[in-house]
Parts: sequence; structure tokens; C-alpha cells
Amino acid sequence: MAELLRAIEVSKRFPGVLALDRVSFELRAGEVHALVGENGAGKSTLVNIFAGSLHPDGGTIELEGRPVQIRSPHHAQELGIRAVFQHLSLVPALSVAENIFLGRELTTPGLLRKPAMQARSVAQLGLFDAGISPTAKVRDLTVPQRYLVEIAKATLERPKVLILDEPTASLTDRETRVLYDLVRELRGQGVGVIWITHRLEELYEIADRVTVMRDGRHVATLSVHEMTTDRLITLMTGREYEQIYPVLQPVPESAAVVLAVRGLTTAHGLRGVHLTLRAGEILGVGGLIGSGKGLLGRALVGLEPITAGEIELFGERIPLDRISPRTLLERGLMYFPADRRHEGLFTNRSVLENMTIAALERFQRAGGILDKRRERRMVTEYIRRLAIVPPNPDARVRNLSGGNQQKVALARGMIRTTRVFVLDEPTQGIDVGAKIAVYELLHELARQGAAVLFITSDMLELLHVCHRVVVMFQGELVAIMRHEEVSEERLLQYYFGHTREEVGRTGVDAA
Ligand SMILES: Nc1ncnc2c1ncn2[C@@H]1O[C@H](COP(=O)(O)OP(=O)(O)OP(=O)(O)O)[C@@H](O)[C@H]1O
Ligand SMILES: [Mg+2]
Repeated sequence: MAELLRAIEVSKRFPGVLALDRVSFELRAGEVHALVGENGAGKSTLVNIFAGSLHPDGGTIELEGRPVQIRSPHHAQELGIRAVFQHLSLVPALSVAENIFLGRELTTPGLLRKPAMQARSVAQLGLFDAGISPTAKVRDLTVPQRYLVEIAKATLERPKVLILDEPTASLTDRETRVLYDLVRELRGQGVGVIWITHRLEELYEIADRVTVMRDGRHVATLSVHEMTTDRLITLMTGREYEQIYPVLQPVPESAAVVLAVRGLTTAHGLRGVHLTLRAGEILGVGGLIGSGKGLLGRALVGLEPITAGEIELFGERIPLDRISPRTLLERGLMYFPADRRHEGLFTNRSVLENMTIAALERFQRAGGILDKRRERRMVTEYIRRLAIVPPNPDARVRNLSGGNQQKVALARGMIRTTRVFVLDEPTQGIDVGAKIAVYELLHELARQGAAVLFITSDMLELLHVCHRVVVMFQGELVAIMRHEEVSEERLLQYYFGHTREEVGRTGVDAA
């Protein structure tokens, strides 16, 4: 296969960080080359250089064997390099078609050819079958829909190089499949694809070769056939993990029910959900994206209009019209939303401020004075446990890599002393070392009597981290299993609606 794009000993320094330390990397025409590594390893920095949004401090880039200086994103596009980033770049006030054609509008002399542009947008988006209208304003789209528009935009004309930075983090399973197909087709046409991901199982699905980065350095490049997950984790983290999943301690028989949900129904999609959660328990919620598992989390804190049902927290029924994330937080339940990149963090503020902002009362001494030393100690402890890079409480959050920003959001939730946690995809986008730390933290919280509703798309987490697992399908809760009963086969059967248990009024509490 012909060599397409090459980085030779490329370096990039940010104030205080050597983000890339003489990194070499090579992409061939017609391959999908995955780029993996812990949060902050330098993956996004490297592809930003290829995409012309950052300039290297040293080293050479070659395109088809010739040295090039990629001056700007526009220049990269002219060279045939297109990228879709972690942070979306669409213009919210413009329509889908306008965004897709931005900068390369179809014109007959003097005239914008709107209908033609709309027709081509439809064809490109039609691939995904996601019901996105070309005339819709981007600001009215959901995050996954926006992502699809980005992909449509990047692939409108066949690029030479396509860069996808964590493409599946915000896509549903079905859209992910379509993206795999699209990428395989482009690969077949000789396009070189760089695919950044934290989902290692994805590599077997789509990648030909894998490059591992760590601390700004190139560690190894392997073909997928010579790769095992254990080896990969060791290369990424520099450590061997005895086990990824900590041993699950049983929930004490006497543990009280802290959250009881009966017949929860929402205006859009959730139907008659019953479940109970006990102190010290981690209850996993699985299901395909679109199954209602995210809706369940949102409905519990009143972010979805509830039309029927009851929610009881610590034995007290909560009036449905009074449910909001804030009122529940006051009563001891914290909700952690899935879409943290787009909400919640104060990116101009420091890591420390972001972590403790919701829990200042925890650091107050008599008289309301803030115990700054304790605050800093606690923040430092979380930075260490979650291996946040850079390990500096005063770093601005905006300068952190995507995954490290998420770790900060997660630590904020955990620093707050809460007794019930509702976590939606807490490990999405964070590296394997931090995932392990999160599992340990969750188990620790459970041992101390906290209860956790753990919504996740990662089946292994349901298998290994949860005391019980429920599965959602088309807005209904269709299965409940104890830890010993959970298997991948069973989960899949419920995911696709092939089987369902009788888990109406009676079944729930029995499991
Ligand atoms: N604009 C910036 N200013 C200062 N430091 C930065 C900037 N952008 C990135 N960094 C730092 O450079 C390093 C590499 O970041 P990069 O975003 O490339 O990591 P990544 O491998 O993509 O991580 P993730 O998996 O979390 O997305 C990190 O230490 C990050 O904090
Ligand atoms: Mg990144």
C-alpha cells in the first residue's frame, strides 16, 4: 500500500507541556489506522497538526512522499485532508445544507444553487437514515445528529485523508454501524483514515493498524492481528493490570431501599418503569442507544416531562411537579449527564474550582470559612487517582484534553457527598486507567453505603461492575438480572427484544 501521510519526529509544545515529543507516524492509502492512548497522550494534538489547526515546533510532515507545511485548516482541505473533531465546528444559526457546503457553495455564475446543495446534502445524510432535514437549523439538532452532519460535510467530496477524533463517542449503535460501512467503503477507494478511540473493542471491528501513544511519545505501531487487549493496555498505560474490574462486594441483606420508582412514564418514550435501588448497591442500566436508558436517568431528575408514576427517595414520595436536578440534589441524589463536553464545566476556571464548586460546604469550617488546605488536598487526591493530566489543580480546564475534562466533571460529582448517584455513561471518552479508577471509586462509594444507578453502553461494565442489571428496550424495562445471572448472550437477547421477562409490578423487587 502506498504511503499517504507521514509525520517525522514531530514535536509540539504548549506552555508547560510537551504535547508531542518527536512523534513519527505513517498512514497508508486504503488503511484505517487507529490512534490510541491515555487522555492527554497527544492524539488530538497530532491530528490537529495534520488538519492544519496547529503548527508543529519541529519535525516534518510529508504528503504522498513530499514535504508539506500545512498552513491552515483551509489549506489542509485543499490538500485533501478532512477532519471531524471532538469539539464540533458547525455554525448553529445556519442550516444543515449551508453548513455542509460552507466555503464551497455550488454556484452558477452569481447564484447560489440552493436546491442542488440541498439535494446533495440529502443524499449524503441519507446514508445515515437519521431523518435530518437539509433545511433544519443546526442549533435545533441533537448532538449525535450534529456529528452526522460533520461527517457528511467531511466526506462530501472524497478526501485523501479522513481524520475522525473519537467518532463513536456520541453516536448510537446503529449510526456507528453505518459509519463503519462508510469508512470501509472509503478505505476500499484508497482513502487513508485516522481513527482515534478509547473503545478498544472497536479496533477489531474497523482498524488495520494501531498506533499507541503515551505522554506525547510514539510507543508502538502494531497490526490488529498481532494485538491483544492486554498488550495494548500495557502499552498505553505502561503498567500491567492484574484486573480491570475490582471484586464486587455483596450488598448487605439488611440494606434499605433508597430509591423506588413505580410506573414511571414520560411524554416521550418511557413506559411504566419500575425499579428499586438499595443502599450499597450498583444497579446497571443497559440497552441500545435509543432504548430509553438515557431517558430513564433524565426522567428521574425531571429533565423529561413525567406523565405518570411515582418516585420515592429515602422513603419519601417526591411530588412530580417538584422534581428537578437541584431539588433532588438537596435531597441527596446527584445526576451526572452523559453530554458533559457541552455542558457543565467552566472552562475558563481552574481544575480546582470546577471540582469543588458544587461541594463548598464540605470544606467549610465553623463560621463559614473555607478550609483551603483541605480543599486542595482533596482535589490533589482526585487528580492522582484519576491520573488527570496535567496534575495541576490550577490548570485551566480549557487547556485539558477532552478526556481529562471529563475526569474533572466526574470528580466534581464524586467530591460532593451524595448518597444516591445517577450516572449516565460516566466512563465514555476516558482512558482505561481512569476507567479502572472510576470502578474502584464506585465500589468504594457503594461500600460506604451510597447507591449507584449506572447507565452504560459498555456491556463489560454491566457484566463486571454491577450488583444487578436492568435492560431497557423501546422505553420499557424488559429484564432484571442479578450479577451471577448476567451474560453477554442474555444481555444481547434483551437488547434486541428477542426475549423479555415478566418484570411488571411483581418481578422487580424479587430480583
Ligand atoms: N491549547 C492548549 N494549551 C495548553 N495545553 C494543551 C493545549 N491543548 C492540549 N494541551 C495539552 O497537551 C497534551 C495533549 O493533549 P491532547 O488533546 O493531544 O490529548 P489526547 O491524547 O487527545 O487526549 P484525550 O483522549 O483526552 O482527548 C495534554 O497534556 C493537554 O493538556
Ligand atoms: Mg483528544
